[in-house]
Amino acid sequence: MQKLTVDLKERSYDIHIGAALLGDADKYMNLDRKVLIVTDSGVPKEYSAAVAAKCREAKIFTFPAGEENKNLGTYESICKAILDFGMQRRDAVVAVGGGVCGDMAGFAAATYMRGIDFYNVPTTLLSQVDSSIGGKTAIDFMGVKNILGAFYQPKAVLIDTATLKTLDDRQFSAGCAEIIKEAITFSEELFTLIEKQGICYENIEHIIAEALKIKAYVVERDEREGGVRKALNFGHTFGHGIEALGELLHGECVGLGMIPMTEKSLRPRLISALKKAGLPTEFSLDTDRAFEFMKHDKKGVGASVDAIFCENIGEHTIKNVTIEELTRHIKNSIS
Ligand code: GLY
Repeated sequence: MQKLTVDLKERSYDIHIGAALLGDADKYMNLDRKVLIVTDSGVPKEYSAAVAAKCREAKIFTFPAGEENKNLGTYESICKAILDFGMQRRDAVVAVGGGVCGDMAGFAAATYMRGIDFYNVPTTLLSQVDSSIGGKTAIDFMGVKNILGAFYQPKAVLIDTATLKTLDDRQFSAGCAEIIKEAITFSEELFTLIEKQGICYENIEHIIAEALKIKAYVVERDEREGGVRKALNFGHTFGHGIEALGELLHGECVGLGMIPMTEKSLRPRLISALKKAGLPTEFSLDTDRAFEFMKHDKKGVGASVDAIFCENIGEHTIKNVTIEELTRHIKNSIS
């Protein structure tokens, strides 16, 4: 069991990491009030039930799983559930699920009565090592990802590593991509550990804690992504282009997106870490369409983007380049 703190002055919070923490949920979260638990249809019901059992008065709201449901309609349904439950400013929302669930429940908590308490209980590896920490909440709108949202920090994050037992191998691997991203851009030590041991259930608590120390360090220095937090987007610009093709999971796309942004001589090490984690490393998809999506995502020709490059393991540089320059760089790297 490990406890980390994200130090953001009056908005500081703890992250609890360990196996079977859900049974003691009330030790880590104040559940002695009305609590709306938000979950989705892909999350085993016993996780939300375990949290509900520890609340004085709970309601569980379940929405259909999938990024396509991260929209205004689902947000409205969550807000309606909060309102119907008669929740006041003293009450709380708890997200039990992956990144989509946390982003939407967090946004509803951030906006209901101008903000009520929010707790995050991420149940996928991807959300445990990335989206559940740092206060980014959002929904997609008019086809644009995460365009409506707020920076709204949770009161605590509860990471029960036992939930990973019900995650399929592909989803587990997708989470590994974000861990590898944090390691290759910030920590040679963590990257070397991953190279030696791989990422598996036996070392997952330690690896999650090490990855989150990096994320907490970054968020403490740049909560609103004006500088160093941009480095957490390593692999994401091209990654989002690949993701828009609709064939691969977010983490798989981030893994592929990191390859061309890594110095040529280091790529074999990255590729080997990705392969060991069960992630794809070949560009067999329609990359031209991925570049089109990338351009659209970044608002078209001539637009500039803060691109993240890794020239040494454990380090990164951020360079403002045009989309055309970035596209050329990636094309040259993967051809
Ligand atoms: N997922 C990147 C960030 O939290 O900034």
